[in-house]
This record gives sequence, C-alpha cells and structure tokens, in this order.
Amino acid sequence: MVQPPRRGLSLLERRLADAHDIDDLRRLARRRVPRPIFDFVDGGAGDESTLRRNEDAFRAVELVPRVLRDVSAIDTSTLLGGVRAALPVILGPVGMTRMAHRHGEIGAARAAARAGIPYVLSTMASTSPERVAEHAPDSERWFQVYLWRDRAASLRLIERARAAGFTTLVLTVDVPVAGSRLRDARNGMTLPPSLTLKSVLQVARHPRWWVDALTLEPLGFAAIETRRAGFVEQSNRILDPSATLDDLDWLRSAWPGRILVKGVLSAEDARAVQARGADGVWLSNHGGRQLENAVAPLAMLPEVRAAVGAEAQVYVDGGVRSGAHIAAAVAAGADAVVIGRPYVYGLMAGGEAGVDRALDLLRQGLVRTMALLGAARLADLMPDMVRLPPRSPAAG
Ligand SMILES: Cc1cc2nc3c(=O)[nH]c(=O)nc-3n(C[C@H](O)[C@H](O)[C@H](O)COP(=O)(O)O)c2cc1C
Repeated sequence: MVQPPRRGLSLLERRLADAHDIDDLRRLARRRVPRPIFDFVDGGAGDESTLRRNEDAFRAVELVPRVLRDVSAIDTSTLLGGVRAALPVILGPVGMTRMAHRHGEIGAARAAARAGIPYVLSTMASTSPERVAEHAPDSERWFQVYLWRDRAASLRLIERARAAGFTTLVLTVDVPVAGSRLRDARNGMTLPPSLTLKSVLQVARHPRWWVDALTLEPLGFAAIETRRAGFVEQSNRILDPSATLDDLDWLRSAWPGRILVKGVLSAEDARAVQARGADGVWLSNHGGRQLENAVAPLAMLPEVRAAVGAEAQVYVDGGVRSGAHIAAAVAAGADAVVIGRPYVYGLMAGGEAGVDRALDLLRQGLVRTMALLGAARLADLMPDMVRLPPRSPAAG
C-alpha cells in the first residue's frame, strides 16, 4: 500500500525521521556536505585499521540476556563524577564542529542539554567557550585541553573555560604528534578550510554548505591563534611531545575541579594517571585518528576496570554506534560511553535537530536493549551479560 505523505513535517524533519540508525545518518551526512568535510570527520589514521577495529570490537560483542526480570520501567540515568546524567553517554570533543554544520558546537551543546548529558568542548573548537556558555547556558559543559608547548597560554585558556562555567577538564594525551590522515592529505584539506580550485568545483554540488561557510562568522579555531595550514602542521606547532606524568601534577595544581585523562589504553597507564590525581580514566584511541593498528578501547575495558577498582570513573569511546553498544560497554565496566562521529553525522545531516535524532536513536536503542537483556537499571548490566572476543596470546 502506498502511504500518504506525513503531514506537518518539514522536509528536514522527514529526512531525519527516515534515518533509523546512525548509519542512515552517516549516509545522509555524506550527501549533505562537501566530500573533504565528510572525509575529515569520517576518516581515520593511515590505513584506517584502528577505526575499523573500534567498530568491529562492538560488532563482535555477544550479549547474554537474563529473562523473567521485571523490565516494565527502564532507568537509564546515572551519576558521572557526581553529575546526574539521563544517559550513560557524553558528547566528546570534536574540533571545528562548525565545519560540519553552521549550528556547530552550540547546536551540539544544546542537544546534549536537552538529552540531559554532558558536552565536551574541544580546544580545537570553532566556537569559543564563552559563546557556548552564552548560547547553551543549561548545558553540563566540560572542556578538553592538550598539553601545549606554551604553558602560560594553556593556563589562560583553562581560566577562560572555568570562568565560562565549564566544570570538568578533559586532558587528551594521545596526540604527542599528529596522526597521519591520508584522506585529508589527498583532499588537500586545510584547517580552517580554504577555497581551492577543487573546492570551488564542489560549490555547485553543495551550495547551501558553501553559502553558510562564506557568509557566516568565518570558520576558524576560536580558542587558539592560527594561520591556515594542514592539520599536521597546526597540531605539531602547538602540542608538546615532551609531556610526561609530571605535567599532570602541574595541571592538577592549576585546576581545582575534576580532571579526566583521555587517550589511555593500558591498565598500567590507567593506574599511573589515577595515582597522579586524575578523577577518571577515558579509554580512547581518538576514534582511530591517531595511532594505526591500535587496540580497540572496548577490548581493554575489563582489564582497566580491574586495575583502577570499582569506584573509579571509567569512560570508553571509539565505535559506539547503537544502544546495544552502550549497554555492552556499561556491562563490561564503563560508567559511560563517549560518542564523536555519531553526533557529527547528525549535525551534517540536519544541524541541531540531527544531533537530537542521533541521541534519540541511541536512547531508544539503549532502553530496548536493557529490556531485552533483563536489566531495568544500569547497575543491572553485569559483566557476565557481555562476552568480548578472546584476546590473542600476543596481547597478553
Ligand atoms: C572530526 C573529529 C574531530 C575530533 N577532534 C578531537 C579533539 O579536538 N580533541 C579530542 O580530544 N578528540 C577529538 N576527536 C576524538 C573524539 O573526541 C572521540 O575520541 C572519538 O571521535 C570517538 O570515536 P567515534 O568517533 O567512533 O565515536 C575528534 C573526533 C572526530 C571524529
């Protein structure tokens, strides 16, 4: 039977309603923005083996449900370091989000606030901490930093974030040098993007994106002074490859609030940063954008949880694409998952409403998975409900 057109829905709403999983949003995103922009978000380092491994690790998970448990009311809420969150999900730091859509960081922060979850603003953001605070005042805002060569500039930025109401600092430690992004290199991608002959040819295919890019506030890094350059050059100019654990002490003395260390992958490092006063460990390989052939964070989760103890906060990211993945990560020992690409696909597909859609899909999926697993609360998601593929002997 031919269905009548859905009345009252705008074209955008219909398009988003027709996206039934994150992969649908990804396909939509791909059609909506110029190819170099899509590739910047979608791509990974080198042969993209890490990126694939992250996703494969979640695909390979086997869930073992329990039955005949009252799942008539599902509660997905949790405490993340004392902060109440409606879902065990965090929107991770993503550089230059306004490249994906003009709603950018503010749209993402607003959607996070509506979903009742934290939003992490990147140091490489295209919107300043002050503007995010002004336009998303109700958001639970966390700020991501790197260890810069220029420590005085680091301190000034941290101070700005504190004054703008950011409550938690996320120190990213997996970028001592920039990863090798072959898609960006092949596309001649610069940050901020620039008009080249190739990109001018793209204008005709994505006129709306280009009208926004050329008429709104110019795209650029809001928190750091830059010149237009390749990503590798930009990062290597700013980041300090000589940083050590001692620098965590320095950061600890500069920031009285919560500090999470993002980019840890081994149990030993997790214990080491915990011993230096980190309030939480964030397992990540930067979404497969840095080290090639890196282990998937999910694979290290049980070991890291065992190493840091039951009380420590442990977050995991990389390859989370569905509610079932969120449930699997929580069962395997995570307090929350972090998503990067899934919400940026949403942004590219439909701006702020697209982020809402991505979060709706994940929420619905989590609620359904918990019911089917026999877990009415997150605390009911137990390690024996999730079987991760066995690790190879080489991995120890
Ligand atoms: C386009 C893009 C930009 C990113 N920029 C940053 C950044 O500035 N700082 C950071 O710590 N992580 C950054 N990340 C990594 C994410 O915070 C997160 O670790 C990763 O995206 C998780 O994997 P997923 O994309 O599979 O969800 C970025 C990721 C993407 C996709």
